[in-house]
Amino acid sequence: MELSRRVAFLLVALLALAATVWNQEQCLCKKNKRTTDCFLNNNVCLCKSLGHNKTVNCSTLTSKCLLMKAEVTGLKSGRRLRPETAYVDNDGIYDPECDTNGNFKPKQCNGTNTCWCVNSAGVRRTEKGDQNITCQEVVRTSWIIIETKHLEGNTALSEDSIKGTIGNKFSERYSLDQKHINVTYEKPFIIVELKQNASDKKSNDVDIADVAYYFEKDVKGDPIFNDNFGIEVAGEPLQFENTVIYYVDEKPPEFSMKRLTAGVIAVIVVVVLAIVAGILVLIFTRRKRGKYEKAEVKEMNEMHRELNS
Ligand SMILES: *[C@@H]1O[C@H](CO)[C@@H](O)[C@H](O)[C@H]1NC(C)=O
Ligand SMILES: *[C@@H]1O[C@H](CO)[C@@H](O)[C@H](O)[C@H]1NC(C)=O
Ligand SMILES: *[C@@H]1O[C@H](CO)[C@@H](O)[C@H](O)[C@H]1NC(C)=O
Ligand SMILES: *[C@@H]1O[C@H](CO)[C@@H](O)[C@H](O)[C@H]1NC(C)=O
Ligand SMILES: *[C@@H]1O[C@H](CO)[C@@H](O)[C@H](O)[C@H]1NC(C)=O
Ligand SMILES: *[C@@H]1O[C@H](CO)[C@@H](O)[C@H](O)[C@H]1NC(C)=O
Repeated sequence: MELSRRVAFLLVALLALAATVWNQEQCLCKKNKRTTDCFLNNNVCLCKSLGHNKTVNCSTLTSKCLLMKAEVTGLKSGRRLRPETAYVDNDGIYDPECDTNGNFKPKQCNGTNTCWCVNSAGVRRTEKGDQNITCQEVVRTSWIIIETKHLEGNTALSEDSIKGTIGNKFSERYSLDQKHINVTYEKPFIIVELKQNASDKKSNDVDIADVAYYFEKDVKGDPIFNDNFGIEVAGEPLQFENTVIYYVDEKPPEFSMKRLTAGVIAVIVVVVLAIVAGILVLIFTRRKRGKYEKAEVKEMNEMHRELNS
């Protein structure tokens, strides 16, 4: 009798333990599917970021540096299985070095002797150099301009409904405070401006660079979240094409800028997200419209090649 009671007790204890462990394993990282080893901690799902030892909080966005690292890790492991053309659809990512907070280190290299400096969005802002290149600090990207075009729907879309829907989507899906978001609509172009300087950003706030990256992935149909990005205006799905993302840093980038004049307040790195063709081009630009004007074009295909060689 005594023995079987002990056995029963032991069994119950084991079951309880198993239940705890099971519970810990039960969480799904809603805001980052590029994770592993998830467990619940005070109702917050915590996971390891793929390819990095950092624990991420699934209640908020993960930093772009960790996301890129995780993506490159995935590419490395799955690479042999992909068709040769598969890499064309990725966005010029490199295998980044992240600091202990998961942010980009100012200097990034491609594994050999080629290095460059990046901004807080991880976008190259200098010419490529050798390992001796010095990058003093990560220059903050405090303004991101997303230009996109919507496909023609059946109903005419009102300016207010577009602005409202997109503004709300950005703040709800990416937890970004509305004060950082400004949407303008010049049919069929939708321009989403995200502004956030260092003093604007509290420690728990999401960063606009991370928001832009999540959006970029959403628009490409490769969401980092565990659900798809669906957006409807007046009951109709809104689809985007020709999305272009401009990064404006607090300091102008240090490319050799032949035709750059004073008065150009912002030099911008452009990422063309061709959803259909999926080829990414990094353009260094000054635009005619407003303060900018188009300049030279830098292809980032070299980077894809590097990743896939
Ligand atoms: C990951 O972190 C754990 C503890 O935080 C440490 O013991 C382990 O060595 C780390 N692994 C790597 C590869 O850095
Ligand atoms: C996770 O992120 C949420 C939202 O930013 C925050 O409220 C919470 O304190 C964080 N939890 C942990 C354990 O970091
Ligand atoms: C870096 O600088 C050191 C000292 O100036 C020099 O000896 C070395 O050759 C340089 N390395 C490269 C790769 O240029
Ligand atoms: C939003 O952008 C438009 C066009 O650039 C500008 O006229 C307007 O003042 C901005 N609104 C806010 C709240 O920043
Ligand atoms: C940061 O942004 C806020 C609001 O957008 C502005 O009032 C403030 O002057 C900016 N600070 C710096 C240092 O640019
Ligand atoms: C690094 O970049 C240089 C120049 O773009 C290229 O020649 C080299 O093959 C790259 N190395 C790797 C390992 O990607």
